[in-house]
Amino acid sequence: MFPRKMFSREMLPRKASPAWEIFAPAKLNLYLEVVGPRTEGFHPLETLMVPVRIFDQLRWTPNRSDGHRLRVRNFIAASGISKSNDDCDLLGSASKNLVLRAADQLAQAAGVEPKGCFELVKRIPIQAGLGGGSSDAAAALLLANVAWKVNYTRKRLLRIAEDLGSDVPFFLGSGPAVCRGRGEQIESIFGLPRLHFVIVKPPFGLSTPKVFEQLNRGGARRTDLRADSSRRLTRLVEALRRGAVAEAGPWMVNCLEAAAEGLTDWITRIRHEFARFGCWGHFMTGSGTAYVGVMRSARETRRIARSIAGMGMGSVFATSNC
Ligand code: C5P
Repeated sequence: MFPRKMFSREMLPRKASPAWEIFAPAKLNLYLEVVGPRTEGFHPLETLMVPVRIFDQLRWTPNRSDGHRLRVRNFIAASGISKSNDDCDLLGSASKNLVLRAADQLAQAAGVEPKGCFELVKRIPIQAGLGGGSSDAAAALLLANVAWKVNYTRKRLLRIAEDLGSDVPFFLGSGPAVCRGRGEQIESIFGLPRLHFVIVKPPFGLSTPKVFEQLNRGGARRTDLRADSSRRLTRLVEALRRGAVAEAGPWMVNCLEAAAEGLTDWITRIRHEFARFGCWGHFMTGSGTAYVGVMRSARETRRIARSIAGMGMGSVFATSNC
């Protein structure tokens, strides 16, 4: 559906005169470890994130009236293999949407009047750990930056992104990255191979703060696991760079998975299915509830996605990293 040209390593606004538009990808956490106790409301993390080829689409068009507004079209499939449909429900309260918050913050920082109409086509499931809201926020910053001729550098936009959410800076970057701190310290990772994923988003979603609360309820993480995190992450990245995906599979882990399992039994159910299919690795992404299997080939990805779509476990995506 999206030619490779449309999304290189970077999210780039494209002129569609007089409009501007941008594709906002989803992300997967191939590795996520909490490496210390919560401080100032956030847990220090170590995570490997890759953008994947599931996209929201954001468009900005000038309008004559004052101010700016947002229209959201929901193309999120509730079940089956996900593809666009014609459902155009309004998604949540537009005023709360991160797109307008991002645009407002940029306008305020740059001292310009926010204007025009944003139209967001939503395909990335929400409360999934796929980073859809954060990606939309980064997309809004990049789009408003050119549409309003603010012309801030990415470094300057990063400062605004940090305030909008832990994952927003990643989406301003260019491709796979190891993120540390609360997620805002970004180290780009090069040389990863093409990976094939089946992603299942069950009909039940989880809020990020609830999952972190549940993690804390479960007691402190073993300090040896925390201390060992960098070594495990390095092994994962090295194996991936060598193209040894089968070897990398067992290193793909997420310490929030057990916490999410305490809140919904969907994680366990989906994990059992992936274990049956014998993929190279399988894990929950972010704070869930989307669950990911790493497949051996594009062909196997399509075959397994079709099988899982028939099981009524929510929406299913066959995709790869970009
Ligand atoms: O930054 P973001 O808006 O995604 O975070 C939502 C919530 O998730 C935070 O308010 C916090 O409760 C939790 N969180 C955390 N540690 C992180 C990221 C998020 O505890 N590194």
